[in-house]
Amino acid sequence: MKTVEHFVEKFVPENYNLFLDINRAEKSFSGNVAVSGEALDNRVSFHQKDLAIKSVLLDNQELTFTMDNENEALHIELPETGSMTLVFEFAGKITDNMTGMYPSYYTVEGVKKEVISTQFESHFAREVFPSIDEPEAKATFDLSLKFDQEEGEIALSNMPEVNAERRQETGLWTFATSPRMSSYLLAFAAGDLHGKTAHTKNGTLVGSYATKAHKLSEVEFSLDIAVRVIEFYEDYFGVKYPIPQSLHVALPDFSAGAMENWGLVTYREVYLLVDENSTVTSRQQVALVVAHEVAHQWFGNLVTMKWWDDLWLNESFANMMEYVSINAIEPTWNIFEDFQTSGVPLALKRDATDGVQSVHVAVNHPDEINTLFDPAIVYAKGSRLMHMLRRWLGDATFTKGLNAYFTKHQYSNTIGRDLWNALADASGKDVAAFMNSWLEQSGYPVVTVSLENDTLKISQKQFFIGEHEEKGRLWHVPLNSNWSGLPDTLTEESIEIPNYSQLASQNTGALRFNTENTAHYITDYQGELLDNILNELTELDNISKLQIVQERRLLAESGEISYSALVSLVKALAHETSYLVAAGIRSVLNGLELFVESDTEEEVAFKKLVGELSQSNYDRLGFEKHDGESDEDEMVRQITLTNALYSGNEDAVAKASQIFDEHRDNLANIPAAVRALVLNNQIKHHESKELTILYLETYIATTDGNFKRQIANALSNTKDADTLASLLAKWQDKDVVKPQDLAMSWYYTFLRNDFAQETVWNWAKENWNWIKAALGGDMSFDKFVIYPANIFKTSQRLDEYKAFFEPQLSDMAISRNISMGIKEIAARVALIEAEKVAVNTAIKEAIN
Ligand code: BES
Ligand code: ZN
Repeated sequence: MKTVEHFVEKFVPENYNLFLDINRAEKSFSGNVAVSGEALDNRVSFHQKDLAIKSVLLDNQELTFTMDNENEALHIELPETGSMTLVFEFAGKITDNMTGMYPSYYTVEGVKKEVISTQFESHFAREVFPSIDEPEAKATFDLSLKFDQEEGEIALSNMPEVNAERRQETGLWTFATSPRMSSYLLAFAAGDLHGKTAHTKNGTLVGSYATKAHKLSEVEFSLDIAVRVIEFYEDYFGVKYPIPQSLHVALPDFSAGAMENWGLVTYREVYLLVDENSTVTSRQQVALVVAHEVAHQWFGNLVTMKWWDDLWLNESFANMMEYVSINAIEPTWNIFEDFQTSGVPLALKRDATDGVQSVHVAVNHPDEINTLFDPAIVYAKGSRLMHMLRRWLGDATFTKGLNAYFTKHQYSNTIGRDLWNALADASGKDVAAFMNSWLEQSGYPVVTVSLENDTLKISQKQFFIGEHEEKGRLWHVPLNSNWSGLPDTLTEESIEIPNYSQLASQNTGALRFNTENTAHYITDYQGELLDNILNELTELDNISKLQIVQERRLLAESGEISYSALVSLVKALAHETSYLVAAGIRSVLNGLELFVESDTEEEVAFKKLVGELSQSNYDRLGFEKHDGESDEDEMVRQITLTNALYSGNEDAVAKASQIFDEHRDNLANIPAAVRALVLNNQIKHHESKELTILYLETYIATTDGNFKRQIANALSNTKDADTLASLLAKWQDKDVVKPQDLAMSWYYTFLRNDFAQETVWNWAKENWNWIKAALGGDMSFDKFVIYPANIFKTSQRLDEYKAFFEPQLSDMAISRNISMGIKEIAARVALIEAEKVAVNTAIKEAIN
C-alpha cells in the first residue's frame, strides 16, 4: 500500500495571509500567499494540485523549488530552518468538478449566472493555494479576494468582512483573521447571493443565504433552526460558539450534502431551503442537516481529528448530535424515530456483509480518503455506536466528559483515545475497552436467546448476510433488557442463567433485549421466547414493533429463518397507525416484492396483499390533509398511498389522476406531500409523449431540488423506448441534469425499473469513461458501483456485474464496493432461489 508523508512534520504553519484574484468569466484565478511558520528541516514540502507556481520567496529572495505533481506537492530547499515567512505566487484554473474552487450554475429570469464557492474537505485546499493541507496543520487565515464582481454581488467567508469602506473603492474583500483551524475548513462564496440574518442570545450573527433564483422566504426556516441549535449546543457542551458568525449558504452545484466550513457552512439547496409547498420530511431533513453541520463547529472545527483515520470522531459524533439537538428543540417531531427508519436499517444491512470496513480505518493515501465517507458505516453505524455509548454513560456524564474534552483540546487535534479518556474520567468506566470492540472490528453480533430446562442461554456470534468467513469476533454487548435481574453486558461468547421461571415471575411482559434499539446488534429469540413477544406484539411501543420487524427481516435475509415468516408478521400489524410501523411494513413489502415476478398470478396476489395491508390507513387518511392533523399522519399517508396505488386501488388511482388534472398547468402546486405519488401515478396510467415532455420541461425550469427529484423519479416509470432513449441522451447534458443529481435522482430510479434496467445498465457500461471523468472526484462516483448491487437480483445480472467490475478491482476508490457488491447480489440471487416458493405460498394464504 502506498503511504504518504505528513508535511507538517517538516513545516508547521502558523498563519496564511492569502490573496486571490478570481476571474469567473475566464475560469481562472491567481494569487499569493504568505505562509509564516516554523521550518523543522531544510527541505520542506507544501501541497499543491494543478497550480502554476510562479515563485517562492523568502525575505524577497527567490528559492529553488521542484514540482511533484504525482504527490500533489512542491518541495523547497531552504537556506535555514526556524521561524520564517514564505511567499508563494501562483495561478490556477477553475474547473467544474465541485472540489477546490468551483462554479455553480443557475438561471435567474432567463439569465445564466454563476456563483463561485469552495469545497476543501477532505484535501482540496491544495487546488487553490499552496498549503500544508493536513488536518493537523492548524493555522490562522487572513483571506482577501477580488472577483469579476457585478452590481449587487457579494462575497462571504468564514469570518466577517473588515475594511468594507476600502472595498467600495478597490473591490477588495477582506475578512477578519480566522481562529486556528485546519485548511479543509477554509471557505468563501462569491456571487449574486441574498439572505437573512438574526442573532443568537449570545450575540452570534447567524445568516442563511441562497442565490437570487430563490425567494428570500426560503431561507427563513433554516435560519430559525440554526439560531436555536447554536443556542442548544452552547448549553449542552457548556462551550460558547467560538467565532462571531455562523453563515449558511445553499449552492446550486454541490457534491456532498453539506459542508461544515467554520462560520460559512455550505449546502446542497435541498438541505437548506424550504418553500411554502414542502413536506414534513424535507423540513425535518433540513433541520437535521443544519444541526449536523453546526455540531461540527465544535466537534471537527474547534477540536479536529489528527488524521483522516479518525474521521469518525467528526462524522459519527455530528450524526448523533443532529438527533440529540433536534429532539431537544422540536420534541414533538420524535426525531429519534427517523433514525430508526433510516440510519439503523442502513447500518444493519451494510455491516452484515463480509468485507465491510470498520468505523475506525487506517488510511494512508489521499485516494483512500474519499472511501472513508461510507454513509452506512462512518455515519449510520458510527452514530449508532455514539447513541449506544451515550445511553451506557447517561446523558449527564456524557456532557460532563464532552465539556472537559472541548476545554482541554480546543483549537488542537485529537485521536479517539483522547475522547475515551475524557469520558472515562467523567464516568469512572472503561470507555476505551467498551468502544474499541465496536470501532475497531467490522460487523456486529446477533445475540441468540433460548430456553432449555429452565435455563436461559444468551450467546453472541457475528451476523452475516451472504458468503463470509467466520472470524470469531466478540463484542461488549450492552443487553439493555426490559427485565431486571440480568447482566448489563455480555462480553463472553455465551452465558447461562438458571431459574428462568423465577426470573419471569419477578418481571412483567415478554423478555426483550436492546430496548429502544440503541445498541448495534440484533436478537434472535428462539422458541417460546419468540412466541411470547409475538403474542404481545401489538401492545409493544412503536420502536420495539419496528425493531422486531427489522430483526426478523435481517434474520430472513441471512437464511436463519424463512422469509415467508415475514408475511404473517406484517399482517399482524396491518391496523397500526404509527409511521414507524408503516415504514417497517413498507420495507418488508419491498423485500417480498423481490420474490414476485411481473405479470404473474403471484403478482396479482401480492398486490392484493399490499392493498389489504394498507386499507385501514387508507380509509383513515385518504388523500387530503385534515385540519389539525399531525405531521406523522402526513408521513403515514405517503406510505399508505404508495401501497394503495401499487395495489391498483381504483379509488386511489382515480383520485391521484384527478389531482393531476387540477394542477396540470402548474405541477409545482400539487401539494408537496402527495406530489411524488401523483406524478408517478399519472405516468403509470396515462403516459404520453406530451406528458413526459411536460415533466422534463418542468424539471428544467424549476429551482426546487425536491420537486426535481420527484419528477426524475416519476419519469423512471416510462414504458416508452423512445422516451427512454431521449432522456438518456440528456444525462450528459449539464444544462438539464446537474452532475450532482445524476446518480441518486436518475441512475438509481431508472435502474430500479424493470423496463429501463437493461438499457440504463448498458448506458453506464458504455459511458463508464465519461462517468469516471465527470464524477471521478465526486462523492457520488461510487454510487455507480453501489446502486446496481442494491438492485440486481438475477444470476445473469450477477455475471454481468462481475464481468464489468472485477477488472476494476485494483481501483482503490471503488475496490471494496465492488467486492461487497458481488457478495450482495449473490446473496440476493441465492435467497430468491431458496425462498421463492415458500414466500409466494405464504402470500397466497395471507390474502382474504
Ligand atoms: N464533512 C461532511 C461533508 C463532506 C463529506 C465533505 C465528504 C467532504 C467529503 C459534512 O459534515 C457531512 O457529513 N455531510 C453529509 C450530510 C450530513 C447531514 C449527513 C453529506 O454530505 O452527506
Ligand atoms: Zn459531517
